Parts: sequence; structure tokens; C-alpha cells
Amino acid sequence: MILSDQQLIAIAKEFGAPVYIYHAEKIAEQYQKLVTAFKNNDVKFFYACKALTNVSVLRFIKSIGAHVDCSSINEVKLALHAGFSPQQILYTSNGIAFSEIEEAKNLSVNINIDSLSNLEKFGKKFGHSYPVGIRLRPNILAGGNIKISTGHDKSKFGIPVEQIEKIISVVEQNNLFIRGLQIHTGSDIENADVFVKGIEVLFDIIPHFKELEFVDLGGGFKVPYKDGDTETDINLLAKKVNEAFVNHPNPGNKHLQIWFEPGKFLVSAAGYFVTQVNVLKETSATTFASVNSGFNHLIRPMFYNSYHRIENISNKNGAEKNYTIVGNICETDTFAWDRKINEIHEEDYLVFYNTGAYGFEMSSNFNSRLKPAEVLVKNGKATLIRKRDSFGDLLKNQII
Ligand code: LLP
Repeated sequence: MILSDQQLIAIAKEFGAPVYIYHAEKIAEQYQKLVTAFKNNDVKFFYACKALTNVSVLRFIKSIGAHVDCSSINEVKLALHAGFSPQQILYTSNGIAFSEIEEAKNLSVNINIDSLSNLEKFGKKFGHSYPVGIRLRPNILAGGNIKISTGHDKSKFGIPVEQIEKIISVVEQNNLFIRGLQIHTGSDIENADVFVKGIEVLFDIIPHFKELEFVDLGGGFKVPYKDGDTETDINLLAKKVNEAFVNHPNPGNKHLQIWFEPGKFLVSAAGYFVTQVNVLKETSATTFASVNSGFNHLIRPMFYNSYHRIENISNKNGAEKNYTIVGNICETDTFAWDRKINEIHEEDYLVFYNTGAYGFEMSSNFNSRLKPAEVLVKNGKATLIRKRDSFGDLLKNQII
């Protein structure tokens, strides 16, 4: 399910470029893949909203039945604002001040705690009265690149599984109600076996917690960025997860719900970033096409060496030529080096695909440039869901 070039150009003309455009039906299609594959399981999907927090997108995601995973108290507040109930919100914290965990508790949301010290503080203050999950570090290396790998044995995330004795002692001393165990090994994980390995790690630990209600396997499903890339095979994942549970009967025979926290999988392919070419520059090394954007709007290529497909939607039948696509900020901001693209003219619209996740969300005002607008397309209708920044926004918090 895709938006046509004509739709993208019409939206860029109406709302201006650069603009992030999200396709609601594509988000729903991705969500249905998960629901269908796991239809025989007691499963909950919490959308990892760090990928894209626009409240109109959150409201849409709530309307299709997903829950939401948050990584900061402000994401929790945005989710509440979007209409999620506290029970539908999961706060998977990492390295945060205890006061923020208390704030989440006061908002009655589900909480995963990722350090011994916060677990202990939580136990001392609330004892058995408020169930919590524990985020563990499974010591599994997985994910598209080291910057987005979070479960390996040098990662800061979660309490290392080898500290299980300490965890048990904190839980027992403070009579904590441990409701769930969580792991998240990374992003861009194509291989379903990674999740099976995670389950195997958890199965060694589960018997220590008699009140468990869920195991949370995190997010990280891969989406195809390049031609020829594949996405995580969700049906195979469901089959393998089910086999893993059958092969490792739960020692307490307690029914455990399975939770997932997909971010990219739900919103990445639904996102199109449309820019306009400012300048063409022929050089001996390459022909540069500078668009009216930069890593201030889409940082993934510079930050992770990520590949995004780029097309010239203003000249789809033009002869293909090699271009280096760069931005207009005063620092190297190469989006793609020597890429074959249909002939480009200044003012053409170039679209960057698969930019719904971690696109707008990781944007900044570097070079005092303005953040782009966001538009949501639903039932064929395009609606502005965030205004483009204005100059006043740059001064908003400054003492002038
Ligand atoms: N759960 C937790 C605890 C996470 O830290 C993350 C992502 C997710 C779920 C969702 O992962 P996803 O399904 O989106 O892969 N900015 C990077 C990705 C970093 C993700 C950080 N945590 C990128 O643009 O590739």
C-alpha cells in the first residue's frame, strides 16, 4: 500500500516542502500483519512511540487497537493526551531519575525498571503495592549496527542477567510484585531466532518470579530500506516464538502474556519525506543535488550510514544519471553518494522513502533552520498534523 507520486506532489504543493507525509492505512496494514500472525496467542503490541510521537498518529494507532510504549515521561503524557488509558501505556525506562518513575507510577501506567538502584528505591517506597516489570540485559548481540544494538554484553540497557541473584535479593527484601520481564535486543533485527534466544534467556529466570503475568520481548523488527531488503518474517517469528514456549514449559505453569514493542515496523514505511532541489552543482567528483533539508531533518544517513531510497517524483521518466544528494546545512550532510536517479532539475521534488520512523522524531533546529511540517493521509484525505516551525519558534525559549 503506497501513496502515489501525484498525491505526494499535490501535498508538497499544498503544504510546502520539506514535509513529512504519513499514510495511515499503511500503519494499519503493518499492525494487521502482527495481529494476524499472533492470532492464537495472548499477545499485546505496544507501539514504541519514540519512532514518531505526533499525537494525531498516536490517536490513529490507538484507534486500530494497539497499545503504546514510552521511553520518557513526556511520551507518557503525550500518550495520555492522545487518549490512551494508563493500562494501555507502558513506560520502559532507562537510566532515569527515580522521581520520573514515581511520576509514572502516579499516572498509573505500566512500568519496566532497568536498574537495581531504581528497583530498590521503588521497592522501599511502594513494596508490593504496585506491580512492575524488570528490564533485563540478555547479553545477545543483535540489530542492524552497533549504535542500535541494545542487548549485548557491553550495553547500558537493562539489568545484566548475570546479576539475577542481586535482583532476587532486592525483590525479596522489598517484597516487590514483579509482574513482567522485559528484553529489547536492538533495532533492524531480521532474524526471528534472536527473539527465540531472548526467550531462552528468560526461561532460566522466569521460575524465580511467582507472580509473573507477562514476558515482553521488546521491538526491533526489520523493515526493508533498500531494494532487495526483506522485513522480519512475522509469521515465521510467531511460529518460532510458539515453538519456543512449547519446548520450554513454564515451570510455574503460570499463563504468561507475550508483549512486543514495535516502533519502526509500524510507522517506517508509512512515512515519505518530500524535499525540493535548491541547487545542482557539477564537479569533477560528482554532480551534487542540494535539497532544502539536511541532517537537521533526517539524520539517519549521517548518524547510522542508513540507506533511504530516493526518487525524483517530478521526472519519473527522465534518463537516469548519477547524483550525490546532499542538504543545505553548513556541515557535511550527505544523504546518498553517487545514486542513480532520474534526471534532476532545480525545484524538482525528491522523495525519501521509509522515513516514518526516527525521521521527524530525531530532527533538530541545527543551523537555526525550521523543522518541517507533518501531514497525515487517511482515506485519501491529507490533513496537516504539525505546522512547519516559524521563526518565532527559534526565539520562543530564549531570554530576549
Ligand atoms: N523498545 C525499546 C525499549 C526500545 O529502546 C526501542 C527502540 C523499541 C522498543 C523500538 O524499536 P524498533 O521497533 O523501532 O526498532 N533511531 C534508530 C533506532 C533506535 C531505536 C531505539 N530503541 C534508527 O533510526 O534506526
